[in-house]
Amino acid sequence: MKSSEMQRETLKEAYSPEQFRAAGHHLVDQLADHLTIMFNSEEPKVLPWQTPDQAYQRVKELAQTDAQTVFKETLANCIRLHHPHFTGHQISPPLPTAALAGLLADLINNGMGVYEMGTIGTAFERYVIKTVAHQFGMGEQADGVLTSGGSLGNLTALLAARRSKSSHDVWNEGNQEPLAVMVSEQAHYCVDRAARVMGWGEQGVIRIPVDDDFRMDTQSLGRHLQQSREAGQTVIAVIGSACSTATGSFDDLNAIADFCEANDLWFHVDGAHGAAVSFSEKHRHLVAGIERADSAVLDFHKLLMTPALATAIVFREGHNGYQAFAQKAQYLWSDPESETWYELARRTFECTKTMYGLKVFSIIAEYGTSLFEANVDSLHALSVQFAQLINDADDFELLIQPQTNIVCFRFLGEPMPSVNSQPLNELNQRVRTALIEEGRFYIVQTDIEKSTWLRTTLANSATTLEDLRQLLERIRGLAQTN
Ligand SMILES: Cc1ncc(COP(=O)(O)O)c(C=O)c1O
Repeated sequence: MKSSEMQRETLKEAYSPEQFRAAGHHLVDQLADHLTIMFNSEEPKVLPWQTPDQAYQRVKELAQTDAQTVFKETLANCIRLHHPHFTGHQISPPLPTAALAGLLADLINNGMGVYEMGTIGTAFERYVIKTVAHQFGMGEQADGVLTSGGSLGNLTALLAARRSKSSHDVWNEGNQEPLAVMVSEQAHYCVDRAARVMGWGEQGVIRIPVDDDFRMDTQSLGRHLQQSREAGQTVIAVIGSACSTATGSFDDLNAIADFCEANDLWFHVDGAHGAAVSFSEKHRHLVAGIERADSAVLDFHKLLMTPALATAIVFREGHNGYQAFAQKAQYLWSDPESETWYELARRTFECTKTMYGLKVFSIIAEYGTSLFEANVDSLHALSVQFAQLINDADDFELLIQPQTNIVCFRFLGEPMPSVNSQPLNELNQRVRTALIEEGRFYIVQTDIEKSTWLRTTLANSATTLEDLRQLLERIRGLAQTN
């Protein structure tokens, strides 16, 4: 065993500013080279595929190396969000400025739960929340917090909804009645998870059918409310999807707002992906009615070029944000009853929080919110062009006209198999697996009813229509050989 003197020396060396300076410069150089290579498409692979066991084996070997080797190997083996062929899940290629903010946040590690542990970070967070509330068209009294992802944001909103709309004090007494929320059957799975976390079980989510464009059939809300009440359930909220995950469809938020107002229900908007359109003059209409929501969530890491995670949860009446968690923690807060905006942990699940606000704020300070608008607009325009490309091709089928940067389609092959047939599903599944293993394009898949569709999220402003033309061509090629 080392003497405590030696241990102290080892620790001192591990914190060496000079080593940090040298390693940091080297890493930033490597990252800048990585960006150049990706943007110039000098690297053929967006996804250097390896099986989970291969990856784990390599990691065990890396444990015997050093941090520089680990960084280099990470870059060589990661999925590359800045590659123009990254068109998979809904996550942004981060802006370098925001990534630098992340490095800064990690090094200073301000804990944020209490004001003293993150004075400037707390103020960044407030500025970002007020900016989002303004974009949503909510008034001065709107307020909220940043949290770790849309899933946690939605759970936080529903905890506040429960506090506000349940006739019992569930926080202190536990569930006394079968509570439920109503949401489109196309909603993200985290809503179902939130209901189960709150102890409402499978019954806690009432799934509202969708129309041909996968938007909630708001006409049927009344019937479902009636049926649930007859079944002894207490519905407390309706959640609008803006947009849905699989197809990028925006529910009619004004119709949901009308319904909630008429029936004294909480109105929450899951805008994790699509509420970003509120930054765009051209596309803001898609979330018309969000200003009437009791609460709404927006992920900066989906469409707004921010490294994961950075989720805003905004309450139209800011004081409702204090209702989600109403605990006393004397050692943290001077007056647990008062609504002090700067004691952030009172309103989030996290106790120690990272400085989410710094990443977003640094983008706003450097480029203004017009950069968010530029990203939303250009990705939407590319999606429309891609949809046209698919429509023009006889051997592909477009699922629906895209409303945002999510485009779903499938390969029909030659000769054309019968629609919805199992062979067609298997063909598309095989092609996607082959694409992944080859690594030159990254797309995902989704099952709609019983059909498999290829799904792209055009997340990268460096992607061109030519890249997407090549994608379709590669699908044709792989379909021949797989
Ligand atoms: C509509 C919607 N809500 C919530 C989530 C979950 O967000 P997060 O991954 O940030 O937890 C997603 C993720 O894809 C989503 O699309």
